[in-house]
Amino acid sequence: MRKPIIAGNWKLHKTLAESRQLAATLAKELSSVDHCEIIIAPVYTALSGVAEEITDTPIQLAAQNCYPAETGAFTGEVSPLLLKDAGCRFIICGHSERRQLLSESNQFINHKVAASVNAGLGAILCIGETLQERETDQMLEVLTTQTREGLAGITTEQMASIVIAYEPVWAIGTGVTASDQQAQEAHAFIRGLLQGLYNQDVANTTRILYGGSVKPNNVDGLMAQSDIDGALVGGASLKAEDFIRIVRFE
Ligand code: 13P
Repeated sequence: MRKPIIAGNWKLHKTLAESRQLAATLAKELSSVDHCEIIIAPVYTALSGVAEEITDTPIQLAAQNCYPAETGAFTGEVSPLLLKDAGCRFIICGHSERRQLLSESNQFINHKVAASVNAGLGAILCIGETLQERETDQMLEVLTTQTREGLAGITTEQMASIVIAYEPVWAIGTGVTASDQQAQEAHAFIRGLLQGLYNQDVANTTRILYGGSVKPNNVDGLMAQSDIDGALVGGASLKAEDFIRIVRFE
């Protein structure tokens, strides 16, 4: 009942030409995929170009960030409405790299989630503990706070536009993936949080993606877990062959 999502977060990689080329390859190879939703998130400057490459394909466009205002004196920022105008269907909110490098707070991330949904876009809310938090038994508390505060004010109806991405910080870009069991445990816990914050139906229907060193050789085990509904892929989404294999998880 939850259609899987395989999403590629290209982070700060690829020129416009390189982005278009990768998108064109994916568009060609994945044109008939129906078993999962496919999302790619290039850099801002490549969004409209990539949108052209994936027109009339199952691939959907996402932005890696947004600013929670419609228009105004916000030099250097981009609003959800403009991202929608560029062809986006989703916005990634609260990625751990932004939480760490740019000190984004749960409140600020919550404003981005709300602004994305209010603009008619889906929001992919990223949460996840650091290694230190895991080792000092703060993981559940961190996930609880990030989920509750990240979703503050989001209604039960709006939850249909929300995707959660569990990305343990220690697994991002390190080659150390959470084991299938570690990921499943965290996902089951997050689903329980959604039940408490909303209801059983929201818990049953919200897609929860795993992110952190997802590769062709570990995606199948992760996707076999009952509470893992997809993957948010960094490094391996930059190579067509690897991302295609991940989309074709077994
Ligand atoms: P890697 O797949 O490179 O570990 O990155 C994961 C990630 O941060 C996706 O948002």
